[in-house]
Amino acid sequence: MEDRIQLAAPNINGNEMKYINEAFSTNWIGPLGENVEKFEDEMRVYLGAKHTTALSCGTAALHMAVKYCDVKPGDTVFCSDVTFVGSCNPIMYEKAKPVFIDADRESYNMSPRALERALHDAKKSGKLPKAVIIVDLYGLPANYDKIMPICEEYAVPVIEDAAEALGSKYQNTPCGKFGDIGILSFNSNKIITSSTGGMLIAKSNEVTSKVKFWATQAREKAYHYEHKEVGHNYRMSNICAGIGRGQLETLDQYVQKKKEINKLYREELANLPIVFEPIINGADPNFWLTVIQIENGARVDYIKMLEFLEEYNIEARPFWKPMHMQELFRDSEFYADQEGDIVGEELFSKGLCIPSSTTMTQIEQERVINTIKKAFK
Ligand SMILES: Cc1ncc(COP(=O)(O)O)c(C=O)c1O
Repeated sequence: MEDRIQLAAPNINGNEMKYINEAFSTNWIGPLGENVEKFEDEMRVYLGAKHTTALSCGTAALHMAVKYCDVKPGDTVFCSDVTFVGSCNPIMYEKAKPVFIDADRESYNMSPRALERALHDAKKSGKLPKAVIIVDLYGLPANYDKIMPICEEYAVPVIEDAAEALGSKYQNTPCGKFGDIGILSFNSNKIITSSTGGMLIAKSNEVTSKVKFWATQAREKAYHYEHKEVGHNYRMSNICAGIGRGQLETLDQYVQKKKEINKLYREELANLPIVFEPIINGADPNFWLTVIQIENGARVDYIKMLEFLEEYNIEARPFWKPMHMQELFRDSEFYADQEGDIVGEELFSKGLCIPSSTTMTQIEQERVINTIKKAFK
């Protein structure tokens, strides 16, 4: 059996160890410390953002964002339907109700039409959502030129879940900066990793200081341990931040490599019954994962393709199963792209992600390409 080709392996460049060693040599291996401060600062500069807070994971960052939007039990929060469950679990932590908004075919991201309908209905019933969580799926920027004016019209804050989109841009603005609050994830399959970790991006210091307060067990300013609010232990460790700092130094190279991987797939698989992810006007995606849809009537469907690749020791992954189809959210409200046309279900029924590791060699990628071709023969 040939060596396994992974979907999205971490790519360690070497400097991570230098920063980890600095943490050890100063005996500062717990949460917070110099690496954390520097990682926040370096990421802030990279994004051209105002404020950044390093947290234990992307889900924790989303939880803090949801909490900052004053989400309380019984409130509603709108969320992209086609995503990973980490996008919406924080709504559940606060005992609020998610309302899922379908994707559109043009962007694979939140459908502006469906969002407009949902907000219109919410206003009519006198219960606007406390926030809208917009995901940049697989590193593809959402259609912010259309979405932001809609959210502004209804004065609903936007949380941008850019967990998969570090290094992506839309109209030259880095993803993570579109929402009132944005978040990133550095879990080990992301474009850069800190082993586990996340970052909250904010426009005001008010957000950042409140988030830092909650994320360190909501300890009041006092000589002793004084608490008035529920807090969390969500800050990033100095070791993880060291890994993140090392990784950030090579982010641009990794974005370049992911783009080359995507380009080669598009060239080599052009004549097959496959549709690649859409790139909306103004988008410059990081192509974290290359995503394909297998056309109806092809010799294999997405499940057969996954099984076929597995036989050749190649790791691929189904498209995210939409949240409105999950047992967990069976009672949640959902808005389709258009009446009777649920785009997320179609994407799920035909889609898969193919190997996109920055560690993948050209020979390995050719193996993936040839195996996909073979599956259609
Ligand atoms: C879209 C999306 N949102 C949220 C998360 C949660 O991030 P984390 O795993 O760092 O908690 C992830 C990734 O895992 C993700 O892909």
